[in-house]
Amino acid sequence: MSISPVILENIIREAGSIALGYFKNLDTIEVSKKKPRDFVTEADIAVEKYLKNALAHEYPQFGFWGEESGQSANQESRWIVDPIDGTHSFSKGQYFWGISVALEINQELIFGVVYAPALDDYYCAEKGKGAWKNARSIKVSSEDNLDDAMIATGFACLRSYLEENNLERFCRIAQKTTGHRRFGSAAIDLCLVADGQVDAFWEQELNLYDVAAGALIAAEAGATVTDFKGNPGIFPKQILVTNGKILGQLLPLM
Ligand code: IPD
Ligand code: CA
Ligand code: CA
Repeated sequence: MSISPVILENIIREAGSIALGYFKNLDTIEVSKKKPRDFVTEADIAVEKYLKNALAHEYPQFGFWGEESGQSANQESRWIVDPIDGTHSFSKGQYFWGISVALEINQELIFGVVYAPALDDYYCAEKGKGAWKNARSIKVSSEDNLDDAMIATGFACLRSYLEENNLERFCRIAQKTTGHRRFGSAAIDLCLVADGQVDAFWEQELNLYDVAAGALIAAEAGATVTDFKGNPGIFPKQILVTNGKILGQLLPLM
């Protein structure tokens, strides 16, 4: 069964319009907490509900795993969805948040889309075919000196309960690099590596729905996707994505 990138884009852009509708009326939306420091808004729920229905209508053979509604139907072939990655930024009126949708079949990622509606940046990739931003082919940066590199990371919202909370690792790496960014959306961080805007990104304690689409986009743009020891693969609890050229210099600092 082939997937139409155009149909998928229409569905995801419509989800973006729904999210933007809430984003323009932030003072009226309901924000609650799933756990202390872990926010969810009305928009997260509405976008996921729309995506779940629209994707099932168009592609009834695939199951669904969304951050807010969990897993349903066929989990061998499924959509993996984070309706809003960067909810805290969204709820503050900042622009770095995105809708993340990946298609996984038999544990292999086939399609990935990350759409940042407030920036109108649409990133997508198809396994073996490349990665694009707004219909332009993208690739990772060519920076080969860690000293000059621009690196992004994130810190789990529940970090105060974690023994290993990324702060020491951040200090180690920050002393060996020039630029550091914390954009607040792992899905977008991965796309920024894909687009060469940052040279590497790492984070820990994420879930597959945070990174599935972005990791495929990064890999298709030429990135290395590993754990903190350099083992290839997508490890949401320990994800390190680089342009490939600085991987060897970063690994000893992880
Ligand atoms: C969060 C974002 C953030 C990361 C957090 C994630 P959410 O996802 O990806 O960048 O640092 O760990 O939980 O909760 O906004 O979907
Ligand atoms: Ca997320
Ligand atoms: Ca989310």
